[in-house]
Amino acid sequence: MKKLLTIITLLSSAVFANQEQNIPISEGQTLHQESCIACHIVPHDEAFYLRENRKVSSLIGLSTQIGRCAQNFSTGWFPDEEKAVVDYLNQHYYKFQTNNAFEPK
Ligand code: HEC
Repeated sequence: MKKLLTIITLLSSAVFANQEQNIPISEGQTLHQESCIACHIVPHDEAFYLRENRKVSSLIGLSTQIGRCAQNFSTGWFPDEEKAVVDYLNQHYYKFQTNNAFEPK
């Protein structure tokens, strides 16, 4: 019985680890282009995320806001896709110190 439990634990953690693998930031950029630029990037100007009075002030806030926009506009993104967009926007615009955006400290 103990052995069986160990096997189940190992198997499920393997599946879990696999799910947690990040997809590349370039994928986040593609997803963002597909679903988000209609509102956020006026032609020739990517300044929305850099404007002075922007709302987001932390990585958690960024993640939350992206979750909200993604849900409102029915992107159907999986969590790893959403995270890739968070990583993309953070790397290019917000530049918050990176941690796991989905785990509050
Ligand atoms: C229909 C228009 C629309 C679409 C599409 C949209 N958003 Fe938004 N988004 C908004 C509005 C409105 C705000 C709030 C702006 C404000 O409060 O000044 C906002 C705010 C944000 C912010 C916070 C900006 C800041 O002030 O720092 C982020 C990040 C963001 N959106 C990401 C996304 C992402 C990612 C997508 C793609 C899923 C997306 N948005 C799609 C309308 C949109």
